[in-house]
Amino acid sequence: MPVSAHQPIETCDRRGPLFTGPDLKLGIFGFNVSAGGGLSKSPSRYEIDWHDNVRLARKAEEAGFEAAIPFSRWRGFEGETNPWGRSFETYTWAAGIAASTSRIVVFSTSHSLTVSPVVAAKQLTTVDHIADGRAGLNVVAGWFEKELKMFGAGKLEHDERYDYLEEWMDVVCRLWSDDDEFDYVGKFVRVDGGYQQPKPLQAPRPPVMNAAFSPRGHQFAARYADIAFVSARDVDGARSKAAEIRALAESYGRELQVWMSASVVLGETDREAEELVSRYVSEADEQAVRNCIEWTMGGARMPPEARRQLSRSVAATPGLPLVGSASRIAEQIGALREAGIDGLALTWIDYPSGLDAFVEQVMPELERQGIRRKPAAIPSR
Ligand SMILES: Cc1cc2nc3c(=O)[nH]c(=O)nc-3n(C[C@H](O)[C@H](O)[C@H](O)COP(=O)(O)O)c2cc1C
Repeated sequence: MPVSAHQPIETCDRRGPLFTGPDLKLGIFGFNVSAGGGLSKSPSRYEIDWHDNVRLARKAEEAGFEAAIPFSRWRGFEGETNPWGRSFETYTWAAGIAASTSRIVVFSTSHSLTVSPVVAAKQLTTVDHIADGRAGLNVVAGWFEKELKMFGAGKLEHDERYDYLEEWMDVVCRLWSDDDEFDYVGKFVRVDGGYQQPKPLQAPRPPVMNAAFSPRGHQFAARYADIAFVSARDVDGARSKAAEIRALAESYGRELQVWMSASVVLGETDREAEELVSRYVSEADEQAVRNCIEWTMGGARMPPEARRQLSRSVAATPGLPLVGSASRIAEQIGALREAGIDGLALTWIDYPSGLDAFVEQVMPELERQGIRRKPAAIPSR
């Protein structure tokens, strides 16, 4: 019999750049995973390397990005090149990135089914101390059965995974804030004499992010997340999704930021960028794309045209495509801000050259268009 009802979640510490920064925040996303920016066998696809990861995080931080966010991945989508098959584990990755940076918020992405909430709370707290109060937690329920099976965790049905995640979050939040020992008996999670010291530096807790597509996932995000992702392929879709999830959070008396994941393909001209997208599509790892869509998105039930569109997107421009010249991309970002989007988590096919070009060409356009300001210099490391 469950004896621990869900507690209302207190607001997180809001002193960091995610809450004091510009209206439109930027994150660098998924660079702990090979081919993180698309299921591509393009010769220019990103291969992970630790020192490169540090350089990317520092470059993003110097350019004023507010967040570095990893994917949580334990295996790839096979096919010819097994994209996403090589990745750095995200809590240890975050500890290293935190120690190598000084301003950017460093997220760990956690599959709740793969780690005890007691371990997760402590790991995130440790990262928060290493980072001097810059850690964030991105929680995911898990959607890739083959991956979850590696943990003996593939048995829960979709909505039940979110029931489990809510209990998991209740325990993590109590470990972060309760000074007294506590017992927790949920349907899935049981903790006897829960105790954690020290607490995170961010009080009462670090920010929590969640990316879900489903109504059940959005219910979870509305109740527990400070930052919720929505997915859409254009500005109008973004506007209605953002309004929907904000209203849902308000129904729980909560306020949240709405972010999107977006892939950047920048060209000297709009046409050059569109040609680059066509090239990336032609370089898709097609079997890996089919596997991804079938294994994680119910691809077998999709109408052929929707499936074709999704295949192009997964291969070359996952999330919202930001494609064009620097001024067009800056305009698109401005339109998303107007539509109620608070932040963008950016990916590239080739992170090092993609981030460099974005910082050199798009950031000044964002400043010129009044969407972002020039960042202050980084305090010395
Ligand atoms: C922007 C974004 C990032 C995501 N990152 C991860 C991740 O790193 N690891 C993971 O297993 N799932 C990730 N997911 C999957 C989601 O957590 C979620 O399970 C999936 O979108 C399906 O939604 P649903 O669980 O609401 O059905 C991500 C989804 C989105 C939209």
